[in-house]
Amino acid sequence: MAGLHLIDHPLIQHKISLMRDKNTGAKEFRELVSETAMLICYEATRDLPLKEVEIATPLAVAKTKIISGRKLAFVPILRAGLGMIDGVTNMVPAAKIGHIGMFRDDENCNVTKYYCKLPDDVAERDVIVVDPMLATGNTAVDAISEIKAAGVKNIKFMCIIASPQGIERLQSAHPDVDIYCGAKDEGLDENNYIVPGLGDAGDRIFGTK
Ligand code: URA
Repeated sequence: MAGLHLIDHPLIQHKISLMRDKNTGAKEFRELVSETAMLICYEATRDLPLKEVEIATPLAVAKTKIISGRKLAFVPILRAGLGMIDGVTNMVPAAKIGHIGMFRDDENCNVTKYYCKLPDDVAERDVIVVDPMLATGNTAVDAISEIKAAGVKNIKFMCIIASPQGIERLQSAHPDVDIYCGAKDEGLDENNYIVPGLGDAGDRIFGTK
């Protein structure tokens, strides 16, 4: 079974604390989401395969390593996942980007897919799904099912804050998917927001409230 990777590096903890602050404005919040995504991505890509090559430096030929093998795609879950894309593509510029739009009915937590556009060659890629908040886990579970249905074999999930319920739900539905997150919070409130969390990540990224 894949695992939970809690990436509690001091820089990540510091940035998440700033994001939690209700007085942090949209511009700073967006920058923090992007920077935190970049730092978590550093760990989520730790197992990328390498191959040895020879490179001519100004002084000699170095036997050195470059990333090789399967290629990557990032898939943000709309809309808050978009806020993480700058950060992760700074780390892996060659990655392709797919999009999945999931709408959650606040009354019953049912999830409806309204958009899905994945790279044509997605089945030949490893995929990292990104969404800042893993709350009930329903959206992540459905998004990952959709990506598996497109033929993808190796999927990871990256978020900034996760709830214990979301982690359990995702791990039981997709035990093969590693989860990378920066903080595991206490739980969910009656509206399925993560507590203490940081509020609605989409609204804070896009300044819609
Ligand atoms: N989505 C958010 O943006 N915030 C939460 O706390 C839960 C889901």
